[in-house]
Amino acid sequence: MKKTVSVMDILGKKGKERIVMITSYDSTMTKIVDDADIDIILVGDSAGMVMAGLDTTLGITMDQMVYHTACVTRTRPRALVVGDMPFLSYQTGVSDAVANAGRFLKEGGAQAVKLEGGLRVIEQVKAIAKADIPVMGHLGLTPQSVHAFGGYKVQGRGDEAAKMLMDNALALEDAGVFSIVFECVPDAVAKEITDALSVPTIGIGAGPHCDGQVLVIQDLLGMSKEFKPKFVKRYAMLFDTIKEALDKYASEVREGAFPDDEHCFKE
Ligand code: KIV
Repeated sequence: MKKTVSVMDILGKKGKERIVMITSYDSTMTKIVDDADIDIILVGDSAGMVMAGLDTTLGITMDQMVYHTACVTRTRPRALVVGDMPFLSYQTGVSDAVANAGRFLKEGGAQAVKLEGGLRVIEQVKAIAKADIPVMGHLGLTPQSVHAFGGYKVQGRGDEAAKMLMDNALALEDAGVFSIVFECVPDAVAKEITDALSVPTIGIGAGPHCDGQVLVIQDLLGMSKEFKPKFVKRYAMLFDTIKEALDKYASEVREGAFPDDEHCFKE
């Protein structure tokens, strides 16, 4: 029997072992992810972009996020599954936040949720944690705020912005989060905050000093030819591998080489 990863296991890794987190949104990919030694699967609201083809993460709904979360948890992964709360599922108030966070556990089968923001959503974080729903924070470049930020820009540059990030991180820790994602912040700032917190930090574009790292799986696997932000490392170029296989399939079908005898039923 495989031992599943719990929130306690993640907390226990701080200062001892690095945490590996990756996104997944469907059962086929989750089976592969879980065969690798991954600690946390994030069903990210990036699903709106990489699965649904939206321009930003803003359009994905609670129902769609619960659907993707259930697709992931149905495979019963060993990794801890975190459901990402979509835009306006928690910003609108404490009772919306608790009810929607609860849906990720009740209907989606997740073990935890993630939401974006610090002090401005602190009452929501407290209420979710008080309902015994483990909650992960997300600071720095929070993509649901793309229009407020005026684009996807590095956050926390300069003393004042770095102090604001630190204050938000400490407030999230006090409110009961079990970890915090830092997206697109200078590595020195991420280090200072990581050292100051007792909960693990998980970086994406936040340098090597965080307690763990996360990437969107399509980025890591090179499934898009165009999209390649500075912080992404491609560990494969599946766009080319998949296209090569499809080109071969198409030409074999057109030439009559597939299906051959090996792939036919006989009387
Ligand atoms: O939605 C997402 O995939 C995320 C990660 C990039 C952290 O929030």
